[in-house]
Amino acid sequence: MEPGLIEGKIRSRRRYSVKWTEYPKEILPAWIADMDFGIPPLVKEGLAEAIELSETGYAPRQMTLDYLEAFSRWQLEEHQVSMDASEMIALTDVIQGFYLSIESLCAKDAGVLFLTPSYPPFFSSVQATNRKVLTSELVLHDRRYEIDFDDFAKKAEKASPGGAILLCNPQNPTGRVFGIGELESIAQIALANDLWIISDEIHADLCYQGSIHTPIMSIAPEVAMKTVTLSSASKSFNLAGLHTAVLHAGSAEILSRLESIPQGLRGSPGSLGLLAGQIAFSSSTQWLKEMLRKLDANRKLFFELLEPYRDKVRSEMPEATYLAWLDFSQSPLKPTAQQHLLKHGNIALNPGEAFIEGGTDFSRLNFATEAELIPEMVQRIVSCLRN
Ligand SMILES: Cc1ncc(COP(=O)(O)O)c(C=O)c1O
Repeated sequence: MEPGLIEGKIRSRRRYSVKWTEYPKEILPAWIADMDFGIPPLVKEGLAEAIELSETGYAPRQMTLDYLEAFSRWQLEEHQVSMDASEMIALTDVIQGFYLSIESLCAKDAGVLFLTPSYPPFFSSVQATNRKVLTSELVLHDRRYEIDFDDFAKKAEKASPGGAILLCNPQNPTGRVFGIGELESIAQIALANDLWIISDEIHADLCYQGSIHTPIMSIAPEVAMKTVTLSSASKSFNLAGLHTAVLHAGSAEILSRLESIPQGLRGSPGSLGLLAGQIAFSSSTQWLKEMLRKLDANRKLFFELLEPYRDKVRSEMPEATYLAWLDFSQSPLKPTAQQHLLKHGNIALNPGEAFIEGGTDFSRLNFATEAELIPEMVQRIVSCLRN
């Protein structure tokens, strides 16, 4: 790799990014879900103008409405689902939406069921709200992670009465995009056990060709009645630091229960996040398409370069997201895969044990970076594999 590429091209302009500042210079960061592709030009212009005008005061109510309406139009155009702005709440983070939904919908001693490996805040939000963590492990079948519906249904019974299914679709970290049949089965199990569905769809816009995202609330009206959908412009348009997200309540009952948590506790996003999100959802389709093309090229290159080492490190190409779930269990790295790769390969991934109990042989990698860094990532991983 060209010397200085990492320093000159990326690190020097990522001063406020935890991804690029957490580790020393010799470490190549491929961990937290941030992209290195900048932001849509119109979002940049809008933010620059607001700063030029020193518009950093309290946001008028209209800005929140504009943001929610832009999201509503986006959902209809991109995902063919009707979500009215009047059924939404603007939040600071999708993670905040887990806490808010669990706290206001789930019974005190109920369980919350989710699939593993899982985005780590699924565990922490259920634990911190004092509900029972229930997990069902995805199983690898023909190089694809599948839901074990027998196990899922048994666990769902334990979440009842008054519990929830916390769904991540598209799934982080496996990159699965659940099909309509799978979503129907999940919904059927939820309804049979009278469970809420809290559906984190933050990666919905990041599906590759051949995979279509279906919002679970669109499966049937009775499913929508039990569903909270969470999303944000933060993954698709790289705006996570602006802390603005959206929650859609599938019924008036859900909305009123969520709104029973006082506004002061719920918090609200700031004007720059609302502005950026509104511009992104209204005018950045082309930018997103171009970015998905780059991500797809990175994805294909990464998997092509990794394939010859499949006897030691396994991974299945994600159908969505810019994340890869790596399995080193055929040739374990000690003490854990993530620590070994950091120390001996100079590459920072996310530790597998944060995604699934006992997952020390796994790591999650982020390939949303300059294409030139992809061979370097693979080389650093491969340098750690034992012969
Ligand atoms: C599945 C999933 N949900 C939520 C988030 C975080 O969203 P927010 O920053 O809005 O809390 C992420 C970030 O990586 C994610 O992957």
